[in-house]
Amino acid sequence: MKTAAAAPEAETQMTKEVGLRVLWAIVSPIFRTHWLRILVGLITLISVDFLQLLVPRLVQEAVDALAAGSATTALLGRIAGIIFLFALTMAGLRFVWRYMIIGFSRLLERNLRNRLFEHILRMDQPFFERRTTGDLMAHASNDLSVVQMAFGIGVVAAVDALVMSLAALAFMLAIDVRLTLIVLLPMPLLIIATKKLSGMLHRRFNLVQEQFSQLTEFARATLVSIRLIKAYTLEDFQARHFGRLGNDYVQSNLRVARVQGLLAPTSTLVGSVGMLLLLYYGGVFVIEGRISIGGFVAFVSYLTMLIWPMMAVGWVANIAQRGITSLRRIHQVLAVEPCVDGMDATSLGTLPPAARVTYSCRQLRFTYPAAQQPALQDIDLEIGEGLLGLTGRTGSGKSTLCRLLLRMYPVESGMLFFQGEDVTRLAQAFIRSHIAYVSQETFLFADSIAANIALGRPEASMDEIRAAAVLAAIDEEICSFAGGYEAAIGERGVKLSGGQKQRLALARALLCRRPMLIIDDGLSAVDVETEQEILHNLRSLPSGRTILLVSHRVNVLRHCDSIVVLDEGRISGAGSHNDLLGHDFYRIMVEKQRSHA
Ligand SMILES: Nc1ncnc2c1ncn2[C@@H]1O[C@H](COP(=O)(O)OP(=O)(O)O)[C@@H](O)[C@H]1O
Ligand SMILES: [Mg+2]
Repeated sequence: MKTAAAAPEAETQMTKEVGLRVLWAIVSPIFRTHWLRILVGLITLISVDFLQLLVPRLVQEAVDALAAGSATTALLGRIAGIIFLFALTMAGLRFVWRYMIIGFSRLLERNLRNRLFEHILRMDQPFFERRTTGDLMAHASNDLSVVQMAFGIGVVAAVDALVMSLAALAFMLAIDVRLTLIVLLPMPLLIIATKKLSGMLHRRFNLVQEQFSQLTEFARATLVSIRLIKAYTLEDFQARHFGRLGNDYVQSNLRVARVQGLLAPTSTLVGSVGMLLLLYYGGVFVIEGRISIGGFVAFVSYLTMLIWPMMAVGWVANIAQRGITSLRRIHQVLAVEPCVDGMDATSLGTLPPAARVTYSCRQLRFTYPAAQQPALQDIDLEIGEGLLGLTGRTGSGKSTLCRLLLRMYPVESGMLFFQGEDVTRLAQAFIRSHIAYVSQETFLFADSIAANIALGRPEASMDEIRAAAVLAAIDEEICSFAGGYEAAIGERGVKLSGGQKQRLALARALLCRRPMLIIDDGLSAVDVETEQEILHNLRSLPSGRTILLVSHRVNVLRHCDSIVVLDEGRISGAGSHNDLLGHDFYRIMVEKQRSHA
């Protein structure tokens, strides 16, 4: 069984560089699915290159005929016609290879994106505590698009550059070996320069992206906390900071532009030096009769054709490197297994679905993955049908216990038993399908009230939604809103009071009709009378329900069948309200709340 301690260790191993074979294994199934598309793309790409390379030969033929005085209008017309046909074919084929190969890279990106998203959805709580949302979003955007580029335009450039340069070189060598060697002299300069410049470009571009995400993140954080910012009159401060971030962003964009501005002149410069050498030596060779005028003209074309592949070599080397780095980062996420269930959840058992739930803790002990001290220890507890109250100081471990019952964190075997079965032998989803949960913080979506309540059962009818809202004592208020159940509640429920949000969350949980209900301090913002009404409703539910209610209110706790008091992760008292009057913490709580009432 995987334990909590094993998880971070597993991930450190993952950050070690994995080999290319592992990375290839991630993408190879996608290649196998789309092999035909890739094949057609590459064949058309190479065909275009060859057609392009044949054109200078045709020109050479025409020029030589002209020089020899043997040219006729018929010959020139035929050659022009063939060149035109070539151009048309190339236009068509260029469309095909673009569509095939760039299309393939998009399909590959989609496949990886879906796999990444599904994988992240399967992860459990410890995973999300180790990684920030921004980090995950970066994987989903930057890394994926870098990989897409490497497999799309990167592959195209690599194949194109290889075919073009080798073929152009062969044609040049066929015309004259010495001249070829002379005009190639400046070319290595071009490879080195583009490799250097595109590396610089990449680093500077990364900074641009980073600053752009800082800028958007700052805008997002500001808008989300707009009430707070207005309450503290921080508008000017935020605006100034935003201005600074925007300025940094422009500055680094200009740094990118400076490098980009160097790329084109560099290639022109090196190309011109090559052309200079060609004009001089090529000219001399023509005078000496070593090559024909037509050969000279064709040579000029081949030399210009070589410029782009030479630049591409440096660029392709960079993009391949970046693609591998990004794929490695994607692999790091894909390779993490959830530590609660493991990826092969199907091998874990289930039990027949039950209408009643029992949960027992035996010497339950739990330490958060990132913590030193245990958050819970020596917990012995039987949870069964009825209303169980859970109370204790903040930080005593109440929420932790709820999260463990929901299997959000891994526990050692032999400590937690669901229906008498060790939870480590049961699928997480099976256990969760029996539990409805109202968390301490409520989460609402910018959608209608009805849709928010029906989150757990999207197929529920309006009557069922209303029935759940009645139980949660919120139906009347919803009906008083303009739009009623269809009213939109705004992003994260900004249009609702704290108590209303909590009762919506409760209605959502009740609609699921699961045999166990866990309410983690979920009624703290509801006024006392309404809370009593809700409690009454919960008690009137068909018997068989197991309810765990975390609360600080004596008026709620006194209605529970039994109460457990937690203190620093241990059970410090248990029993009915009357039993606990002798318990220090509980008695003080009772006295305080009586004097406030
Ligand atoms: N995700 C976490 N990682 C590490 N420690 C945590 C985490 N959540 C809670 N804790 C710690 O565990 C203890 C119990 O917290 P919690 O169960 O939230 O208490 P309660 O719900 O009773 O207020 C506290 O000391 C808290 O700081
Ligand atoms: Mg809590």
